[in-house]
Amino acid sequence: MKFGFFDDTNREYVITNPKTPYPWINYLGNHDFFSLISNTGGGYSFYKDAKFRRLTRFRYNNVPVDDGGKYFYINDNGTIWSPGWKPVKTPLDEYTCRHGLGYTKIKGAKNGLEAEVTSIIPLHEWCEVQKVSLKNTTSQSRKFKLFSMVEWALWNAQDDMTNFQRNFSTGEVEIQDSTIYHKTEYKERRNHFAFYHVNVPVQGFDTDRETFVGLYNSFGDPEAVLEGKARNSVAHGWSPIASHFLEIELAPGASKDLVFMLGYVENPQDEKWESKNVINKTRAIQMMAKYDTAAKVDAAVIEMKHYWNNLLAAFQLDHEDEKLNRMVNIWNQYQCMVTFNFSRSASYFESGIGRGMGFRDSNQDLIGFVHQVPERARERILDIAATQFEDGSCYHQYQPLTKRGNAEIGGNFNDDPMWLILSTTQYIKETGDFSILDEMVPFDNDESKAKTHFEHLKLSFDHVVNHLGPHKLPLIGRADWNDCLNLNCFSNNPNESFQTTENQEGGVAESLMIAGLFVTYGKEYIKLCKYLGKKDEAARAEKHVAEMIEAVKQHGWDGEWYLRAYDFYGKKIGSHENEEGKIFIESQGWCSMAGIGMEEGYVEKSMNSVKERLDTKYGIVLNNPAFTRYYIEYGEISTYPPGYKENAGIFCHNNPWIMIGETMIGRGDAAFDYYKKITPAYLEDRSELHKVEPYVYCQMIAGKDAFKPGEGKNSWLSGTAAWNFYTITQYILGIQSDYDGILIDPCIPKDWKSYTVNRIFRGTKYVITIQNPSSVSKGVKEIILDGKKIEGKVIPLIKSDKKVNVQVTMG
Ligand code: BGC
Ligand code: NOJ
Repeated sequence: MKFGFFDDTNREYVITNPKTPYPWINYLGNHDFFSLISNTGGGYSFYKDAKFRRLTRFRYNNVPVDDGGKYFYINDNGTIWSPGWKPVKTPLDEYTCRHGLGYTKIKGAKNGLEAEVTSIIPLHEWCEVQKVSLKNTTSQSRKFKLFSMVEWALWNAQDDMTNFQRNFSTGEVEIQDSTIYHKTEYKERRNHFAFYHVNVPVQGFDTDRETFVGLYNSFGDPEAVLEGKARNSVAHGWSPIASHFLEIELAPGASKDLVFMLGYVENPQDEKWESKNVINKTRAIQMMAKYDTAAKVDAAVIEMKHYWNNLLAAFQLDHEDEKLNRMVNIWNQYQCMVTFNFSRSASYFESGIGRGMGFRDSNQDLIGFVHQVPERARERILDIAATQFEDGSCYHQYQPLTKRGNAEIGGNFNDDPMWLILSTTQYIKETGDFSILDEMVPFDNDESKAKTHFEHLKLSFDHVVNHLGPHKLPLIGRADWNDCLNLNCFSNNPNESFQTTENQEGGVAESLMIAGLFVTYGKEYIKLCKYLGKKDEAARAEKHVAEMIEAVKQHGWDGEWYLRAYDFYGKKIGSHENEEGKIFIESQGWCSMAGIGMEEGYVEKSMNSVKERLDTKYGIVLNNPAFTRYYIEYGEISTYPPGYKENAGIFCHNNPWIMIGETMIGRGDAAFDYYKKITPAYLEDRSELHKVEPYVYCQMIAGKDAFKPGEGKNSWLSGTAAWNFYTITQYILGIQSDYDGILIDPCIPKDWKSYTVNRIFRGTKYVITIQNPSSVSKGVKEIILDGKKIEGKVIPLIKSDKKVNVQVTMG
């Protein structure tokens, strides 16, 4: 069952039924100011940091889910409704929610009155603007009342939802004209305030939640709205809100646009006040003036569309499969950018109070957006590298506001450092900017301890080399990519977190996933060293990589697939000898990508075993058989019920590793088949089961052992986005960025006849058409570049302002 449709021309997903199986959301904001918005107008906003600068409240675990947002209420002579259906839930005559790239339009209609709310965070602004377009489509003149409502968060989201002994007394507002200013804690340590404004005179306002809603009512039936009259309340403590009250009259056929603005302002210390205890509002008023007409908002929407057209232009596919086009051209790229902007910090599932930016997550995210915003990718890489320590280890996460490592979360996830090689080499391949390697980058943010970025890469590589276990395989540390494989944890205390609790010394538990990762990016490191003319370093690294390959062949091969790990006692995990967890996806993916034992047929066998034991209708499960009891020596992985999350769930992030593995042995049909199983546009028809948005990937789909196989959870902010984009574009469609140009190496289903990719690479537009006349999956027979045949598979760099035509024939 569908709940809407794709409008590819406008690059929107259009929801036509507000009762989606879960809130289907969008993310607004690009740099500093961010909002989440659901298809019924729920959501929240923050400035830079979802924990420390939360502007509006959102309640997790709420009943009903997704209550609280930026709401509008219409009281049309006693008929009360909201344009987004919620929170009032009066049935509407018409409802659509258009989630677009960087904006959302929600429209409702009731009894001939239409209300459309366009929400956008204009580029580079610290505000969200909402254009509310009201229209009377009847032949009678209409008089009705409109109320807005947002609920302020008292800045620190964690404190806001826990420290009630203080928070019930601190809330403060100021009201001037049509603007409600939220200034809790402004008089002491904060130099920032927020405001909610509308561009016309109001007939009233409310700023105290209890007065507006009523103690025994809800957002769905606020007393002031029911009564049709604002109470002009001024909040003192409790829960401050901002609500505007407007009486509106529309002649037959007439319409009216209003512009609301939720803004954030920082004042310099000596410019805080206009007079005693009265905020200096100059900056707020300047901000309001920028969007004081509907035309200015429309212009911001157009600017946003241009912005996205430009970003997306770097990779555009023309294929006969429209679902593939819309994922590659629009939604997957969009999700990659959103994930870059938010990392994992704030979503409908991550409350934004615990997680900062993950070291491994942010490095991996980069491979999904580096072609869109290379300069920001560069900055991100250097920020991440600055949280590394002198021995190559690193903080697992860092806070976006301070860019400092998060000591509470700690480190010792031994896969972390290697991902820096992935992000950096991808960045250089995309841009050709080797200068990043010469940047001086501090350790633990301490400028006095800085080395070049290249040295950071070397330390990343050596961190693995310096942490080998008894089989000369990488020690796992706290965990590898699989956060829940906690082999040194031994937790029997329900009050501690698997992720942060003290680990045993160990020195035995080893990871085959890190081994594969090390060989894959070790080879990249070697390639880079050679490119830079660092022959000795390349030779030194080659020796370590060769030793690792040997160690995997000797101690990491189980006969039909790669082992997953050795535990604290040196016992195998992911072996046919195990009763449960006989085979795991991660080591199959990474050791195959690394090509370990290719000649001996290991890669093919590993892929066949995945097909046989891990593949399902809904995607590839993480391990099999699922764990059915708690293994204290394995940790969190065995705490999840079978079929969920890291215990045999379909963890979408790692499925592309198998797709790439399949492309290593030329099996394009298998690779694309796996791709389609988890790619949301292909799942749209079964949205009632998949549950989450059909336009973005989710973290996990319940596996075959679960109660409801095929049910998706935790959409949007997931490494899944970057890995799928990287895999489909570089390994299946085969358009790979490389140091000297674009490497063409498709691995496709045999029945694909042709497709075209428009790729802007280092400033030049390449139009690459791939023809497959002999119905093969892999193999490039000929490349014609602007009419001339070239040798090899790399399209050289061409400086040209004309389009470069590339004809590729497979065979
Ligand atoms: C989850 C992981 C997550 C980790 C850290 C675990 O409970 O299962 O997916 O990475 O917590 O947040
Ligand atoms: C989610 C985390 O963000 C990511 O870092 C981790 O690799 C996966 N979970 C798997 O555990």
